[in-house]
Parts: sequence; structure tokens; C-alpha cells
Amino acid sequence: HPALLPASTVTPPPAEPVDRSRAVPACAVVIFGASGDLTRRKLIPALYDLTREGLLPEGIAVLGAARSPKSDEEFRQELRQSTAIHARSGALDEAVWNRFARQVHYQTIQYDDPGAYRQIASRLEQLCQAHGTCGRHLLYLSVPPSAGPTIIEHIGRSKLHELMLTDEGWCRIVIEKPFGHDLPSAQRLNQQLTSVFHEDQIYRIDHYLGKETVQNLLVTRFANGIFEPIWNRRYVDHVQITVAESLGLEGRGKHYDDVGCLRDMVQNHLLQILCLVAMEPPASLRADAIRNEKSKVLESIRPIPPDEVGKWAVRAQYDRGRDEDGEPAAAYLEEPGVAEDSSTETYAAVKLMIDNWRWSGVPFYLRSGKRLARRLTEVAIQFRTAPMLLFGEHQAGSPRPNALVLQIQPQESIAIDFSVKRPGAGMVLHPTSLAFDYAEAFDEELPEAYERLLLDCMLGDASLFARDDWVESAWQAISPVLDDWNSRTGPLATYRAGSDGPREADLLLAGDGRAWRAI
Ligand code: BG6
Repeated sequence: HPALLPASTVTPPPAEPVDRSRAVPACAVVIFGASGDLTRRKLIPALYDLTREGLLPEGIAVLGAARSPKSDEEFRQELRQSTAIHARSGALDEAVWNRFARQVHYQTIQYDDPGAYRQIASRLEQLCQAHGTCGRHLLYLSVPPSAGPTIIEHIGRSKLHELMLTDEGWCRIVIEKPFGHDLPSAQRLNQQLTSVFHEDQIYRIDHYLGKETVQNLLVTRFANGIFEPIWNRRYVDHVQITVAESLGLEGRGKHYDDVGCLRDMVQNHLLQILCLVAMEPPASLRADAIRNEKSKVLESIRPIPPDEVGKWAVRAQYDRGRDEDGEPAAAYLEEPGVAEDSSTETYAAVKLMIDNWRWSGVPFYLRSGKRLARRLTEVAIQFRTAPMLLFGEHQAGSPRPNALVLQIQPQESIAIDFSVKRPGAGMVLHPTSLAFDYAEAFDEELPEAYERLLLDCMLGDASLFARDDWVESAWQAISPVLDDWNSRTGPLATYRAGSDGPREADLLLAGDGRAWRAI
């Protein structure tokens, strides 16, 4: 094989935005934690769908690595079944699957066994011969947080990240969330990662950034001239970011009870969306140009005063009620795996102020929760009301303030809320909206977030991934809330399963003379 080069000479930060029309090179994807749910439900279906769409070359190889012993063939059979259920394209295309399956392999490993990493290295050498993947390796960590540091340490010691590297080669590591449990643990993880990899080899994944309509936020803002002049404190009253789920814990009770909604959703997905809404136009689409602007947003968030957390944040747990099918749903404290006296929140709402010239005085209200009335992810830019009620006493119905609502899921759309005159002799106002709907406008199915993100890793485009400083600033932003909530035990506020959330969250906005949009 060609001589090894130190990683620093192999992966200089790209000076230009990555050319996305470029073909993906042959490469090997090593999935640590390949027996897990994510591999079955998301990663393999995404790779299969990319293959079906012709977006991956024949020389893609997948090496699943996990603790349970199994053969390549057994692994393929398992994946066949799960991909048939979870692939975006529905029923398996046998010819595509058979071709794809030949590229899938499995290696049993104990994560703390140095010999296991030598075995992975030798499997990668075989894949290099068989599929031409030499020196292009994507190491995907889809393991519980406790296993991450052990794997990174052994990758470093075994020099797996330098295996067969040539000047055309690369080795990138993808890390799934949660990225740490709090600021100190995230800092430790960053330090450990950067002792083995360069920052531009590290892809901290947040699957929300792979969603088409999240990316569309950038296009809406920066490809249209009409929004920018009003996208600031002079015209915007406040912003609401909602990620509501109707589902409960789906068997993840034990894991979820250690995490809670603030860590699970707000620290990552909601703050990423907030950054895309609030950031300044980047100088280009280069990864660091975008990431610089996002980091500046987090740096401008006003720290929540530790003794006033109750005025800025609300947490709650769901109580008994109804699930998404209208069937009776258990309370959080009755869910399997949840401690009976748990004070873990399943709902969090936070008010954040961004102290910069664009947003000074404009609150950003964030909320997320499980077992809410329905699944809804949306960003609502709520504009100020018209300066005076011109229609005076002849007017019936008060004018609804204008809002630009970007719905991210389940129905991908953009709508502008405004008022019109109801036909007739009186001057009656009628709220309406101008709406654009992705499904109506395009025949193409929207790709799954993981398809886009895996493709980006292979192309070396890190713009949709979180940088080290961003992750730390995101923990910093919520630290006062985490600390306050950790210090208080005892029963939490509750909300009925299947409702819009707790009364306390309504009071958070009511205190500012505002109200949440309906879920
Ligand atoms: C994950 C959270 O990051 O996002 C889950 O850990 C949550 O708790 C999920 O259910 C929601 O993702 P999506 O794409 O279904 O909105």
C-alpha cells in the first residue's frame, strides 16, 4: 500500500463549498453499534435507498461491528427484514437489495479489546481489495454514550484512523447524539476526539439538520429578497419553535429517564433550528462560514440568571391521557424503565433572548414534549401587530398578527398568516393564509435525513454537522436550567397525555402578554 501520511496533510479544511455534484468515492462505512436500533431503522435503510437512487458507487462497503456474534450472512438477513420495513421506498427492490447486501459485512467486537481493532483493520484491508475502498473510511459511532470514549481511545491506539491513508484518502468519524450529558462531559469528549482526529474529520450528527425543510430555512431566508428586510426586531414580535411529538417513550424508558427532554431535544435539535432562524447571512455555503454564524448566535444568547430559572423555563411530565390513536395512555411515571419517583421532564419550554443588533428584545420561545396532542415541528415568526386599528368600531374580529410559519413535519409547508375582508356589507376581518406545500408542489419524495447526512459525510461536506464550539455553547446556554432542575426533586408539573402541554408553559408566555400557537 502507498506510504502512510499524517492526517494533517491529508484533510486540509476545504477552502470552497464542497461540490455536491461530485460523485461519492468508493469507501468503507464502519458502524460501531451495528446491532442497534439506529442501524436497522435508519442507517442501513438510508444506504439502501441511496444505492437504489444511484447516488452511491458500487464500491461502497459496510462493516457492521457490535458485540453479538453473528456471520455476515446472518447480519444481512436481519437487515433485509428491517430494511423492508423501514426503507423510504417501501417494498424491497430485490435486485438492488441483493447487490447492496453483497457489500455488507459484519465483525464481532468487544469495544475494550485491542485485538478487535486489529481485526477491523484486517477486514478493512480485505474490503480494500474486494471493493476498492482503500484509505477512505467512515467510522460511525452509533453506540450508547458510555461506549464512545472506549472506542475512540482504541481507534487512536490502533491507528485505525490512519489505516491505508494516501493523499487521496480520508478517515472521518461520525458521532451520534447525545454529545455529552452536560458541558463538562461534552468538553471532555471534544478533547478526546481532537486528540485523535482533526476537527474537520469529526462529524457530530444532528438528524434534524438533514431534514429537507430544515435546510429550506436557509433557502427561504437567503434566496429570497423579501424576507430579509423584515427579519429583525423592528418587525418581529417573537419567534416560536415547536417540536411536539405524539409518541411516548417507545420502549426507551430507562434511557430516556436518564436524559429528559431538555437534553434529548432542546440542547440539539431546537437550538440548531433557532440558529438557522437567527443567524446572519453566511459569507458562503462553506461549512465553516455557516458554522461561524451559528456559533455567533449561541454566543449572543443572554445567560439565564440561575436564581430566575422559573421565569425562563418550564418542565413537566405527562400524566395519564390518550395516545395518538385515542387509546388510553399511561402516565410517564407508570412507563416501564422509569423510576417511580422520577423528576425527569418529558416536556420543556424555554424562553431565550438573543442580545445582538438584529434580535435585541425579541424573545425566542422553544418548546418540545412527548405525548402531546399531535406530531408537529414548526417555526413561527410572529410579526408585530398593525400599528393601529384603522377599522375602529366598524371592525368585527380582531386582526390576527401576521406570522410566517415554516412547518417542518409532518406536512412540509410554508404559510403566511394574514387577514382579509369577509365578503358582505360589514367590515368583518377574516384570518387566512397563503400556503406553499411541498407535497403538492413536487412529485419527488423527500429524502430521509440520514440519506442526506450520510452522503455529506462521504462527500466531506460538514456544513450540516455541529462543530465543537457549537456543541459546548449549546450546553452552556441550557446549563443554568439543567443545574436548577437537577437541584430540585419532588413532583413535577404535569400535563395530560394527548394535550397541548402544561398550564405552566401557557403562563410563561401569558406573563409576556403572548400565547402559544395551537399544537
Ligand atoms: C431524537 C430523540 O433525537 O429525535 C427522540 O432522541 C425523538 O426522543 C426523535 O423521538 C425525534 O425525531 P423525529 O425525526 O422523529 O422528529
